[in-house]
Amino acid sequence: MSVAGPNPTSHDDAGLPTQKYTITFIDEQKREHVVEVDPAKLPYGHTGLPGSILDIALGHGVELDHACGGVCACSTCHVIVRAGLDACSTPTDEEEDELDEAYGLTAHSRLGCQCVPNGRQNLVVEIPPWNRNLAREPHGPPSDSQ
Ligand code: FES
Repeated sequence: MSVAGPNPTSHDDAGLPTQKYTITFIDEQKREHVVEVDPAKLPYGHTGLPGSILDIALGHGVELDHACGGVCACSTCHVIVRAGLDACSTPTDEEEDELDEAYGLTAHSRLGCQCVPNGRQNLVVEIPPWNRNLAREPHGPPSDSQ
């Protein structure tokens, strides 16, 4: 007979939100972008987990690098969740492993493509400036000759 029961944690992995909430993104120039997340519109796209911080950022025109395409295989989507971390999904071991590669890691760091808020708190999410400078993959100059 199973004795498994609820396992309360500080993180609430209830999944996708059922109510509207806001995320205040603080970009590399310290500008604030307040976006309202509407559960009825999730996912906004196909990059990152549905309802993830990356999905929401891209859906609202907020730039957040995502070199691997949102599949937890880089750390360029590193963000710092300044408020509302308790209302986010618990990081997996895979996310923790990729985060270890992120420059400027903090106790509030997450991968934007893997972190899914449940909507029970509003979030403040900082996009560190060093992501772009250090992590952008080099591309050759555009080829305009044929
Ligand atoms: S975009 Fe690569 S880990 Fe999030």
